[in-house]
Amino acid sequence: MSILLHHSQTTSLIILLSSFFSLLKFVSCDSNSQNHPLHYIHHYCSQEYNLTDNPGFHDNVDILLSDLTSKSSGSSFYNSTAGDDHEKVYALYLCRGDISSQVCHNCIDHAAQTLRENCTDFQDTTAYYEECMLRYSNHSIFATEQELPFRFWCSVKKVSDNATSDFNQRLTKLMGWLVDNAAFGNTTPIHFSTGEANTKTGDNGTSWLYGLMQCTPDITGSDCQKCLKAAIGSYQEFCAERMWAMILAPSCQLRYNTSPFMKTEKPAMPKSSTDGK
Ligand SMILES: *[C@@H]1O[C@H](CO)[C@@H](O)[C@H](O)[C@H]1NC(C)=O
Ligand SMILES: *[C@@H]1O[C@H](CO)[C@@H](O)[C@H](O)[C@H]1NC(C)=O
Ligand SMILES: *[C@@H]1O[C@H](CO)[C@@H](O)[C@H](O)[C@H]1NC(C)=O
Ligand SMILES: *[C@@H]1O[C@H](CO)[C@@H](O)[C@H](O)[C@H]1NC(C)=O
Ligand SMILES: *[C@@H]1O[C@H](CO)[C@@H](O)[C@H](O)[C@H]1NC(C)=O
Ligand SMILES: *[C@@H]1O[C@H](CO)[C@@H](O)[C@H](O)[C@H]1NC(C)=O
Repeated sequence: MSILLHHSQTTSLIILLSSFFSLLKFVSCDSNSQNHPLHYIHHYCSQEYNLTDNPGFHDNVDILLSDLTSKSSGSSFYNSTAGDDHEKVYALYLCRGDISSQVCHNCIDHAAQTLRENCTDFQDTTAYYEECMLRYSNHSIFATEQELPFRFWCSVKKVSDNATSDFNQRLTKLMGWLVDNAAFGNTTPIHFSTGEANTKTGDNGTSWLYGLMQCTPDITGSDCQKCLKAAIGSYQEFCAERMWAMILAPSCQLRYNTSPFMKTEKPAMPKSSTDGK
């Protein structure tokens, strides 16, 4: 039994978890997604507005969400706008770099539904799934690095005391390599980086550390680096020595775990060992 820590700027929730990510709701939907259940993580709504004052905004949200959902069967990232002036909506989605287009489409479909149902009266919203992220706003969010608001989740279980220094050292090294690769590497898709390193967690001698980082492809390499460095600062502050952690921000995300968590669907997971075997 481990515990999931959830941080949302002003509140900290502690939620019981039976195993890694098992709390994250399994949204098992259409029959064709049976083998690829989606994992809802979180949604965020801000900037409440009066629907009666700006009905056009709501209509434009609907149009955009449908547009993005249809684009998601052919692309892992897309940005678009609808409307003009105070009714203008900006939206984008990003699918995790290692998932298939079918899962991406399914994920955006559900993320759109989550925002429709839960953020109706808001003008700045984001839905996070393990497999994808979908945002819309009344101001431009394109090509703009945004590290806030971020959320973090981590295991309550820490690595054992005698292993922390080795763990921290290797994790820091892995994270440093992943940032550079996500920001400036020639990755496919762009700004998507995964890697692994071995470490001693103390529980069972040597184990592997798995890491993943991704930025939205519309930001520059140095903005990607900036966002991910902030995410590293966040896990170091809030998730120090935890067996796994996940930081989600509008422009980037970071995860690591001592158990494998990445899909090996399509394209195959680009493995890069950053440390000795
Ligand atoms: C977005 O909406 C918020 C709240 O409704 C409002 O305060 C803000 O001025 C709007 N921004 C733009 C660029 O229209
Ligand atoms: C929304 O605006 C309408 C018309 O301007 C007003 O009558 C109504 O009270 C407002 N609703 C809220 C919740 O502020
Ligand atoms: C998507 O964002 C880019 C900036 O990254 C912008 O140049 C482009 O116009 C946007 N696409 C649409 C359809 O708004
Ligand atoms: C959010 O939307 C989903 C539909 O995607 C719904 O099942 C869920 O109950 C909603 N959550 C909240 C907190 O309203
Ligand atoms: C750390 O201590 C535990 C027992 O407390 C032991 O089982 C484990 O092998 C030790 N790990 C290392 C890396 O020394
Ligand atoms: C250690 O790892 C081995 C191989 O993965 C596994 O069979 C064994 O159950 C593990 N032991 C503990 C205490 O986790």
